[in-house]
Amino acid sequence: MQRSAAVNPESQTEGTPAHFHDVESMVMDLRPEQPVYCIRPAVLRDTVRRFVDGFPGTVMYAVKSNPEPIIVRGLYDAGIRDFDTASLVEIAAVKTQHPDANTYFMHPVKARGAIRDAYNNYNVRHFVIDHRDELEKLCDELTERNAVIVVRIATPAANVMFDLSDKFGADAELASELLRTSAERGFKVGLAFHVGSQCLDPAAFAAGFKAAAQALYHAGTELSCFDVGGGFPVNYDGVNAPPLECYLDVVRDGLETMRLSNQCAIMCEPGRALVAGAQSLVVQVQLRKNNRLYINDGRYGSLIAPSLGIALPVRKVGINAYSGQQEFEVFGPTCDGLDVLPVPLRLPTDIREGDWLEFGLAGAYSNALCTDFNGFRPDTFVTVDTPFGQ
Ligand SMILES: Cc1ncc(COP(=O)(O)O)c(C=O)c1O
Repeated sequence: MQRSAAVNPESQTEGTPAHFHDVESMVMDLRPEQPVYCIRPAVLRDTVRRFVDGFPGTVMYAVKSNPEPIIVRGLYDAGIRDFDTASLVEIAAVKTQHPDANTYFMHPVKARGAIRDAYNNYNVRHFVIDHRDELEKLCDELTERNAVIVVRIATPAANVMFDLSDKFGADAELASELLRTSAERGFKVGLAFHVGSQCLDPAAFAAGFKAAAQALYHAGTELSCFDVGGGFPVNYDGVNAPPLECYLDVVRDGLETMRLSNQCAIMCEPGRALVAGAQSLVVQVQLRKNNRLYINDGRYGSLIAPSLGIALPVRKVGINAYSGQQEFEVFGPTCDGLDVLPVPLRLPTDIREGDWLEFGLAGAYSNALCTDFNGFRPDTFVTVDTPFGQ
């Protein structure tokens, strides 16, 4: 294990995280008593490249999955210029950091003030709707008709971990009506769907295309954009999802059946699959009671994923493979009784207070969902070179 790299003093300017060759050298240097997010810019770059090379259109990034500025900058540096945003705070953060980036207001339910600010102050020109009243709001608040109204269509139930069409999305009939009415009101129009997050079956995208084709057939409008959403999966522990290329094949086939005009911009908006592998989380064991461990992060911090059925790979820092191991019940730092991981973790039998653990694939919906409940909120970010477990 190379232990050469320490904090680069030149990188200690504001907003530039400390950089290390690997997690072991970070732990040796900082001996952190607070959780540390370890970002891998190289992994981020490779993942962006895979999406950009394989997707037949514009790859947007869904900021909700990880709004950390270091991640946003890493994506921008890797070539991402388009950002799926859901709130004025996300829009402002992206535009302040990268004034030339494009932000899209992809939340189907928006405050009137947020619509005005997004349009007037941040040059947002794409707004999603899934209901007539939201279109009326946009007609009231947008001073000119130079925006694209993107109609979000619901997708059928599929093999996804987190369904979104229960909450958002018009059925095909309503989607047709919204496309027609938006066009009559003088807007350009687009269509979007989202099959649900952590989608384990590429056929879900085929079903999305079918619903979209139906809506478009009855609307008879020309589309300015067509957005196939996010949902691309991550191979967490115990998950064996088809590779990204299978999903992209289905997208390409679906686009062919749609026969869209050359003027129609094709887009996707992945979150999880772009960033999960680019960040791990290092935590410290604060107390061991027999087969119970108390660590400094938990379900109210960065570790909600296990409670949602996602198993993050975990290792003891300094060791990648161990023979003597046992199951431990793992508790988070708050005084709350629910702050416990729902399934035990297999770790070395000799683990003790002061040891560090590293959770891999922790880049999506981790820091994004942190609370500061009980005064615990991890906020230390560093960058490292080597991938998780290497
Ligand atoms: C509108 C929208 N776009 C994109 C995403 C990103 O999805 P994922 O992280 O599954 O790729 C989400 C996530 O829920 C979403 O709600």
